Amino acid sequence: MAAEGGYTRTAGAALAQRSIVLRPHGRSIEAIRTMKNRLLASAFVLAGAVAPAQAADPHLARNLAATCANCHGTGGRSVYEPLVGRPREKLLSMLADFRSGEHEATIMHQIVRGYTDEQLELIATWFSEQR
Ligand code: HEC
Repeated sequence: MAAEGGYTRTAGAALAQRSIVLRPHGRSIEAIRTMKNRLLASAFVLAGAVAPAQAADPHLARNLAATCANCHGTGGRSVYEPLVGRPREKLLSMLADFRSGEHEATIMHQIVRGYTDEQLELIATWFSEQR
């Protein structure tokens, strides 16, 4: 994920800065450099290990769909505006109409803008597959 790559780089930059300025416990610059490099190396190894695991998250669609539960019920099973089991293409076209303003709404036109097309496809597919 891009945000985590950014975090890793920021943490690395912060470490690099601190080792120059602080020199904790009177350690030699060389010792600090080695420590810094080890920390950086483990940060990159961790970032590398985490990224593919997220890409393959088998629960991504379900977790995204869960963000609709407050109003559409757990699993989309609300009485008012249920989403469960509705055809994927129908859901996607309703969401697109909210986004474009074609379908006037009190809240959905704002909510739908918080998701990428890819995320909405995952969400619509997930609801369409629920029974
Ligand atoms: C804050 C409450 C709220 C949340 C959260 C919410 N919705 Fe809605 N949804 C509504 C309301 C209210 C409507 C009726 C249209 C309007 O006034 O906005 C609606 C309507 C819809 C409709 C049209 C249903 C129909 O039969 O016309 C779809 C599809 C929909 N929402 C999908 C979603 C999806 C997908 C999510 C999660 C990404 C979601 N909603 C999250 C409140 C919410």
